[in-house]
Amino acid sequence: MKNIAVFASGNGTNAERIIKYFEKSSIVQVNIVLTNNSNAGVIKRAQSLFVDAHVFNRNDFYNSDKILDILKQKNIDLIVLAGFLWLVPESLIEKYQNRIINIHPALLPDYGGKGMYGQRVHEAVIEAGEPKSGITIHYVNKIYDNGQIIFQAKVNIEKNDTPQSLAEKIHLLEYKHFPEVIESILF
Ligand code: GAR
Repeated sequence: MKNIAVFASGNGTNAERIIKYFEKSSIVQVNIVLTNNSNAGVIKRAQSLFVDAHVFNRNDFYNSDKILDILKQKNIDLIVLAGFLWLVPESLIEKYQNRIINIHPALLPDYGGKGMYGQRVHEAVIEAGEPKSGITIHYVNKIYDNGQIIFQAKVNIEKNDTPQSLAEKIHLLEYKHFPEVIESILF
C-alpha cells in the first residue's frame, strides 16, 4: 500500500478530489490531511471522507519533530501540497527527497514565488493580459515554486475572464490532472 499525506491551508477542494480518486483503491490511500489553519474547510472535507485531519502550528512545523513523527508513524510515501501556503522546512525536504510535490495555479516559472497563491496569482495573470494560464505540478525544494516541473497543462484566457472565472477554469484543470499525476509518480 502506498500512503499519501496531503497538506492544505484552505478550502481543500483539491484534497477532496485526491481523497475521492483513491478511495476505492487497494494500493493507494490518503492517510492523513495536515493543515496549519484550524478554520480550514479541508478539515471537514477530510473528516467527512473518513480521513484524519491534523492541525499544527508554526512551532510544530519549524521547531519540532512532531510532523515528521506523524509522517513516519503513518508510513507516508508521498507528501502532496494542495493549496498549502507555508514554506516546507529543509529538514523535511531532506528526509523526503523527491517525495514532496506541489500544485501551483499558473505556468511556472512565471507568477510564482513567495506571496503568489490562490486569487493573487489569477489577478496578476489577468492584469498582465496573458493569453494563457494553467497549472504546474512540481517537486518541492527549499525555494517557493522552484523545484523541478513534473507536469503542466494550459488554459486559454478569454477577454471577459476575471480572476474569479480564471480560478474556476484552473480548479477544473487541477481536479482533472492532479490525482492522475500523483498516481503516476507513485508507480
Ligand atoms: C489551488 O488552486 C492551488 O493551486 C493553489 O491554491 C488553490 C487551493 O484550492 N495553490 C497555490 O496557490 C500555492 N502557491 P483548494 O483549497 O480548493 O484545493
